[in-house]
Amino acid sequence: MAARSPLVNVMVNAAYKAARGLIRDFGEVEQLQVSKKGPADFVSQADLRSEQILKRELTKARPDYGLLMEEGGGTAGKDQSNRWVVDPLDGTLNFLHGIPHFAISIGVERDGEPYAGVIYNPISNELYWAEKGQGAHLNERRLRVSARRKMEEALIGTGVPFLGHGDHPQFLRQAEVVIGRTAGLRRLGAAALDLAFVAAGRLDGFWEAPLNAWDICAGIVLVREAGGYVTEIDGRSAMMTSGSVLAANDQLHRPLGDLLRSV
Ligand code: IPD
Ligand code: CA
Ligand code: CA
Repeated sequence: MAARSPLVNVMVNAAYKAARGLIRDFGEVEQLQVSKKGPADFVSQADLRSEQILKRELTKARPDYGLLMEEGGGTAGKDQSNRWVVDPLDGTLNFLHGIPHFAISIGVERDGEPYAGVIYNPISNELYWAEKGQGAHLNERRLRVSARRKMEEALIGTGVPFLGHGDHPQFLRQAEVVIGRTAGLRRLGAAALDLAFVAAGRLDGFWEAPLNAWDICAGIVLVREAGGYVTEIDGRSAMMTSGSVLAANDQLHRPLGDLLRSV
């Protein structure tokens, strides 16, 4: 079994603790009081409870790290190089609809670059973890991106920009060219898991814009450590600030990017 570093163990333990509450709340999803943050962007009690647990556990283990969490925003740390970048519940809409495809995503950004990541789906009990230079893993298994080279055989993931967000006409143009050239398109509803699926070779590529740093920090490390490429859709590499993401295996990153940029 691949040895996890103390840093990754901190992230895994925090994810497991927060997951207990999410599993319980998922079982009672109908009773949850849901408050609206904005159109189609719900925050549930489960979300907030998960974030509190993660914040407590992560700051207990690394009190000097900075913190960027979806609900609580950013806090600077004494340590200027390291920052936790956390989504306590990615796939909220799936969660609220009783669809068991959601995850906790914990990333570490080191000197402005994604450095380590843990993505955990508590329902399937799939734990994805990666650290720069140490490879990407699903539970005990080492991950490698898919080897597919042909666009017409590729299964591509995406995120549909929701009401009031993103450029809908542009997304539809992109979806149209991708549908016309690939084996299939999937909208699974949790960006962190989409990236983990690219790392695991389940999806051959994925694109979405706009996302937030907490959706992608951990997933970027996973894809890269599994041998794939991640850039912005236009090919630049400021994903953590722009929120534009194009991830794919090493063979398809270029052709998929060319296709998306052609519209
Ligand atoms: C969302 C999911 C979804 C993506 C959205 C994200 P949330 O995160 O990752 O797949 O399409 O852009 O905001 O709100 O469930 O944490
Ligand atoms: Ca998210
Ligand atoms: Ca979230």
